[in-house]
Amino acid sequence: MMKFDIITIFPGIFDSWVKESIIARAQKNKLIKIKAHNLRKWAKDRHQTVDDRPFGGGLGMVLKVKPIFKAVSALKNRKTKIILFTPRGKKFNQKMASKFSKLDQLILICGRYEGVDERIAKYIADEKVSIGDYDLMGGALAAMVVIETVARLIPGVIGKPQLLKERITKQKGFIEYPQYTRPEVFSPKKGVKWKVPKVLLSGHHKKIQDWRQKHGKVVE
Ligand code: ADE
Repeated sequence: MMKFDIITIFPGIFDSWVKESIIARAQKNKLIKIKAHNLRKWAKDRHQTVDDRPFGGGLGMVLKVKPIFKAVSALKNRKTKIILFTPRGKKFNQKMASKFSKLDQLILICGRYEGVDERIAKYIADEKVSIGDYDLMGGALAAMVVIETVARLIPGVIGKPQLLKERITKQKGFIEYPQYTRPEVFSPKKGVKWKVPKVLLSGHHKKIQDWRQKHGKVVE
């Protein structure tokens, strides 16, 4: 079973997400375990302080290194990778997800928009990861993106294994192609027809495959 341990100051963000759909079923079937830990658990002063003012001045607060160090030390297992989410990190992609899916545990450290002490990036995290060239308010959504992408690669998580296999291409990776279902023709208003491409109705397996190859995108 692969464990996802999220370190965050907003664990509530994950509550409904872990209770729905494939993620919920995968947990019930003991294929994965997702836990959002409140960073404040590892801040033992009276106010459970997790942040402080930046050296050198500036607006906003910075997440302190000690609570995160303590959290990671408490959660760390054997085959673990420690990820810090930051817009300065390496861009997340399918290849990275595939590597992560072979581990026993991922520890995901969610930063927040004002910043985290750089020593977390330098000494604690194995990888700095960004989900795209834009600024989020914190790492929570990035953690969900990474967990979903990784979890669906774990055998058994997606109900029918054919669903994954069917899309393996001759090259490396998976093909994502356009899909249609009934009706064959949909009319949103009089005189307008939205049609399903004929080839998909032909039953001609080879032609359908070629069409999917042509119109699909390979994600590796
Ligand atoms: N935190 C803020 N923005 C982010 C991004 N684009 N990716 C990962 N973590 C982030």
